[in-house]
Amino acid sequence: MDISRLVEEAFFAKKAAYAPYSGFKVGAALLAASGRVFHGCNVENASYGLSVCAERVAVFNAVSAGERCFKAIAVVSDSEEYCRPCGACRQVISEFGSDILIVMADNKGNFEVKKISELLPYSFTLA
Ligand code: THU
Repeated sequence: MDISRLVEEAFFAKKAAYAPYSGFKVGAALLAASGRVFHGCNVENASYGLSVCAERVAVFNAVSAGERCFKAIAVVSDSEEYCRPCGACRQVISEFGSDILIVMADNKGNFEVKKISELLPYSFTLA
């Protein structure tokens, strides 16, 4: 699958975003080595701190389906700026490999790609 298709998948995932508090809808699409794509959206809560980002929902969705090997994750929002994963999501993505590509897109579908190891150098691991 090419990267722009993965970005389209992330826009599809964003449709399910539940963001009544921030109004900031985010979608993520995670490409597994198997070729399967897993979607995630942000899910907010009235107890704000319980809200979960789209990227982590996508990772947990994939891992709970038995996937552990990932190639890339695309992240989109309605912003004109590229959507950057937060620190917590960077750590969660890092758990599954340092070469995973992070595709950060704007609301028009333009994107920038970095490896997770560039976005979170010296990540915490038990290795
Ligand atoms: N959010 C994400 O889902 N992913 C990001 O990369 C950045 C932030 C969500 C969390 C919250 O629901 C909303 O965006 C505003 O911070």
